[in-house]
Amino acid sequence: MTNQTRKMTKNLITLGAAVAVALTPALTGSAAATSARPWMNTALTPEQRAKKLLKVMNLEQKVTLVHGVLTSKGPIPSVGTVKGIPELGIPDFVHSDGPAGVRNGTDPATKFPSPIAYAASWDRSIAALEGRIAGEEAQDLGTDLLYGPGFNIARNPLAGRTFEYYGEDPYLSGIMAAANVRAIQSTGTVATLKHYVANNQETNRMLGSSNVPDRALHEIYMKPFEIAIKYSQPGAVMCSYNAINHEHGCSSYYNLVTNLRDRMGFTGLVVTDYPASWDVTDLKNGLNIEMPGTFRTSLPLVKAALDRGDITMKDLDTRVKETLTVMFRFGLFDKKKDIRPINVERGYQAAQKIAENGAVLLKNKNNALPLNPKTTRKIAVIGDSARLALGGGGSSNVISKKRDNALDEITKRSQGAKVTFNGSLDPLGAANNAKDADVALVFVEKISTELFDNVTLNLKPADENLIKTVAAANKKTIVIINSGNPIAMPWINDVAGVLDMWQPGAAGGSATAALLYGDVNPSGRLPQTFPATDGQWPANTMTQFPGDWIGTDVNYSEGIWVGYRWYQQQNKRPLFPFGYGLSYTTFAYSAPRLAATSGSKSAPVKVTFTITNTGKRTGASAAQVYVGKPKSGLAVPQKELGAFTKVYLQPGESKTVTVTIDPLQLSVWNSKLQKFLVKSGVYKIYIGQNVDNTPLYLTYTVR
Ligand code: BGC
Repeated sequence: MTNQTRKMTKNLITLGAAVAVALTPALTGSAAATSARPWMNTALTPEQRAKKLLKVMNLEQKVTLVHGVLTSKGPIPSVGTVKGIPELGIPDFVHSDGPAGVRNGTDPATKFPSPIAYAASWDRSIAALEGRIAGEEAQDLGTDLLYGPGFNIARNPLAGRTFEYYGEDPYLSGIMAAANVRAIQSTGTVATLKHYVANNQETNRMLGSSNVPDRALHEIYMKPFEIAIKYSQPGAVMCSYNAINHEHGCSSYYNLVTNLRDRMGFTGLVVTDYPASWDVTDLKNGLNIEMPGTFRTSLPLVKAALDRGDITMKDLDTRVKETLTVMFRFGLFDKKKDIRPINVERGYQAAQKIAENGAVLLKNKNNALPLNPKTTRKIAVIGDSARLALGGGGSSNVISKKRDNALDEITKRSQGAKVTFNGSLDPLGAANNAKDADVALVFVEKISTELFDNVTLNLKPADENLIKTVAAANKKTIVIINSGNPIAMPWINDVAGVLDMWQPGAAGGSATAALLYGDVNPSGRLPQTFPATDGQWPANTMTQFPGDWIGTDVNYSEGIWVGYRWYQQQNKRPLFPFGYGLSYTTFAYSAPRLAATSGSKSAPVKVTFTITNTGKRTGASAAQVYVGKPKSGLAVPQKELGAFTKVYLQPGESKTVTVTIDPLQLSVWNSKLQKFLVKSGVYKIYIGQNVDNTPLYLTYTVR
């Protein structure tokens, strides 16, 4: 795309197709061409254009659009393409992964931090930054649709793809996903919410059934999708491998039509997670595009299904029309691709900013951090991950052209300090260097990847031993965690500081150095509870996770009691609660008030309060508002996240902020009526810095 067409496409997405004709006259061809191909008339809405095109398509052409083929660049598949139909002017529809940057075969793109870091920023603009750059890079690389964001709920912290998702809370996940989607789509790239739904583990991921009680399915697992759809109108949703209550993810009319389309108002296309289609009748049940390798929607199979009456031509037409509408909406018919190298530097800088904003400072005894370069003259850097640019494994693993590492960046930032390095398997050498050092920085890594769940949250015994040995030699030992999952920390009392960098991506080294030296003040907060001990988490029986018969039947018998909701219900104290994180400054919360102390069932609740930076450094607080719903037959959690905002403050500065609680956050799912209902009664409103630290309290009455 040229800059001009790029801008036009952006406008087209932002302003809606109705005005597109004014923006893209040069691209639409002559009036004669438009009369031969009336669907090329950009004055029509995307849906009208799709209808016109559908009218002239024969069966074979329609079937071409209901499945994709694998495409590859170099030895690595660049994921898939729905083949175009040149005689009708239908372009190829190119898809790529994913949530942590564009995975496009061997083409380099920016390797962003693991997406859990976007959620940990609690800052919509950070999720949007990744989305915007990934969307632009997708355009540069010729990709039309990105498979992301991924934001399945972290039901059990051992789940292998925890790094790729947005934590344990439906509201935080849904809102951050919406910010990411809006930004991706502002570039002309289609975003895909994945994996719908209740796709919460890797063990037996293609054959297992997530057996989820109806209330939990809607309140916990569908809710993030519902919020993201409401606030971002995504072009696509990816249906999951797993079955839900024994119905395959891509075969369920209840999930794909009754809930996703009819109840949540989704108007885009549904694409399979690769071989997740089970039958040609999935087309009837809401699936638009089958990606390879199950081949259930080939021409002979579709023909036979039509003959048998298992699907009707109307079903097929509906699905093709939905796909074409998305393609028109995103200007795919109207733009010429302009494939070119990505802007490496811009991507690298964005990756650094995201890593800096998502990192969570978990412990900082006696202000061990930030490091003062004048007094920190000998630094012992320890652990292999100090020399790597880390990300999670699987389909979101991106190849980056420019990447750094913490060892080099700390050395650069140290103003000529003596920096030693010891690998992870050299505890004695490490302790020897640490004992004379002004600070010992121990980097520990936990690998996480698609396909495999973890079996423990403890680090490898060798890493735990490394921490203990180094901490015994140097009181000022700081542990830097590189992991996409929570970590159990039986060694925490031995060390002075803990900084969780997650898997920080291409610019993780610079980000780590900037945070350690206080060039950037840590402001990330946990989007997921960190358990006190290995095993202290919801869904902790074999039947629940990974499920009976090794994941064949995964029983969600914990219901809605997931994440911090479970810790409250069980009265258990985690190591670090949901929403927790430290800063190099301190904040005070005061003066809470409501715009109105009561309202109707559909009224948004406006909550105002003041935050003051009471310390000496510029910093940011993630202000969190929790709701306690009135009891009404169904048990309700004590506190559930209802709103949040991130506030940046100079030392001594105060800001008064107002956040809005969406009535959806006051509601409870009614299984009988199959809808969310807000009850009359008194609601508790808690305001603070994490779920266990909410000093401000108000009540609100729903009439
Ligand atoms: C993953 C998806 C991914 C797809 C294409 C699947 O195995 O579950 O998240 O988008 O592969 O790479």
